Amino acid sequence: MQSPILITGAAGTIGHVACKLLVERGSKVRALVRSEDARSAKLASLGVEIVVGDLLDLHAMHRAVEGCERVYFGMAVSPSYLEATVNAAAVAKHHKVSAFVNISQMTASQMSINSTTDSPQQKLHWLAEQALNWSGLPVVHVRPTAFLDTFFLRLSASSIRDHGQIRLPFGNGKTSPIASEDVARVIATILENPGPHIGKIYELTGPRSQDMNGVAEEFSKALGDPITYVNVPWEPWRKQLENSGRLPRHALSHLATMALLKQQNRYDRLTSDVEKITGKPPLGVYDFVLRHAGFYMTGG
Ligand SMILES: NC(=O)c1ccc[n+]([C@@H]2O[C@H](COP(=O)([O-])OP(=O)(O)OC[C@H]3O[C@@H](n4cnc5c(N)ncnc54)[C@H](OP(=O)(O)O)[C@@H]3O)[C@@H](O)[C@H]2O)c1
Repeated sequence: MQSPILITGAAGTIGHVACKLLVERGSKVRALVRSEDARSAKLASLGVEIVVGDLLDLHAMHRAVEGCERVYFGMAVSPSYLEATVNAAAVAKHHKVSAFVNISQMTASQMSINSTTDSPQQKLHWLAEQALNWSGLPVVHVRPTAFLDTFFLRLSASSIRDHGQIRLPFGNGKTSPIASEDVARVIATILENPGPHIGKIYELTGPRSQDMNGVAEEFSKALGDPITYVNVPWEPWRKQLENSGRLPRHALSHLATMALLKQQNRYDRLTSDVEKITGKPPLGVYDFVLRHAGFYMTGG
């Protein structure tokens, strides 16, 4: 009988889409969630087995991993990220899993033993990759670039709606953001047949790298209204985000560093890994905005 695939962070952005895709394609899926709520109920209604527990809890991880051969590890950005990774990896190793798919970040490819970034989360990802590589587990690292869903949807929708502006401190830097659903699609595809992917690192971008004026043009076409890019100064932008109380300190520091790296053109990256793995090209800005047009226009 087929063993279930474990998806951690399953109530979140990548996890829930990965669960859905895997179930639709006929896989058995077990989801680790932190608590039972409407999100876990939705997963359960799809036929996903629900395990409630914390990634930092050894006993919860045994309950989650036992009987699974394939594991996706991902969780929300957090100061506990490295501990959670090693906790999950230690248990996965004990249960002799045949694939451990780890989500990381593309910036890890620009980091080394002598050079990290000021983002605490990026440093934790780099360390987590090192620990997983030392672990002897059959690991696949998936390193997406920035998600369209973060800077270009959650953090920009209200200024687009109210002022027709994307107000971000990205300077003239180019960027190739990716839709989270494409990242989830890559992860689901790897988990379905991990053999050929073990030991590989995949770097995921959207279909083109362009400056923010190019991004704004795609927004304008998709929404049928002129949307312009306003290159706002970094510190007031950071302060406003801090004062909004929307983000814990760790996540704020991470996003603020990402914005600086964008100014430095460190996100000018382009790969074809999404299409190579899934056979389908990633969504571009235009198609992403069309899909979320309701949210940009009315917030609903
Ligand atoms: N956003 C980007 O631009 C971007 C770009 C590249 C890579 N990434 C990477 O993508 C990953 C985040 O994926 P995502 O967006 O799917 O995450 P997410 O939606 O922010 O969070 C996933 C889930 O993690 C759960 N979680 C947090 N702490 C936990 C714990 N201690 N035990 C159990 N569950 C816990 C949360 O549960 P609750 O909901 O119950 O709190 C949440 O549902 C990170 O590794 C991030 O670095 C993100």
